[in-house]
Amino acid sequence: MDKETLIKNLNEDLSGELGAIAQYIVYAAMATGPYRPQLAQFFLTEVPDEQAHAQFLANKIVSMGGTPTTEARPVPAANSSREMLEAVRDAEERAVRDYTQRAREAEEMGDKGLMVQLEDMVRDETSHLEETRMILRDWPL
Ligand SMILES: [Fe+2]
Ligand SMILES: [Fe+2]
Repeated sequence: MDKETLIKNLNEDLSGELGAIAQYIVYAAMATGPYRPQLAQFFLTEVPDEQAHAQFLANKIVSMGGTPTTEARPVPAANSSREMLEAVRDAEERAVRDYTQRAREAEEMGDKGLMVQLEDMVRDETSHLEETRMILRDWPL
């Protein structure tokens, strides 16, 4: 693991966070049916967390001498509330996996501060993931 590779990987994470922000805003708008109020609220409450993650990553990339990406990871199309929740679950699973790996890379690079921050982000994404899984567990539609 060299610094350039870590910067590249953090930029991939940043792209994921920008995508997550777009995903939650657009899915909140698209949520229809009897659960629209709760679902829209649920999606929108995730946005500040993902924004904080994106800001942290952008700052870290600059501090390491890199250039933060402005390209968001594409948001999967979804035709129902269930499909939106499943896409969100998949994205949060990936975020947990990616930050777990990135924390290891930060440790390998000897950047304890980055490692700790990434582990905090693993905790945030795990709580998003668990909430989404619980909503999906008895989803009626
Ligand atoms: Fe995030
Ligand atoms: Fe998340």
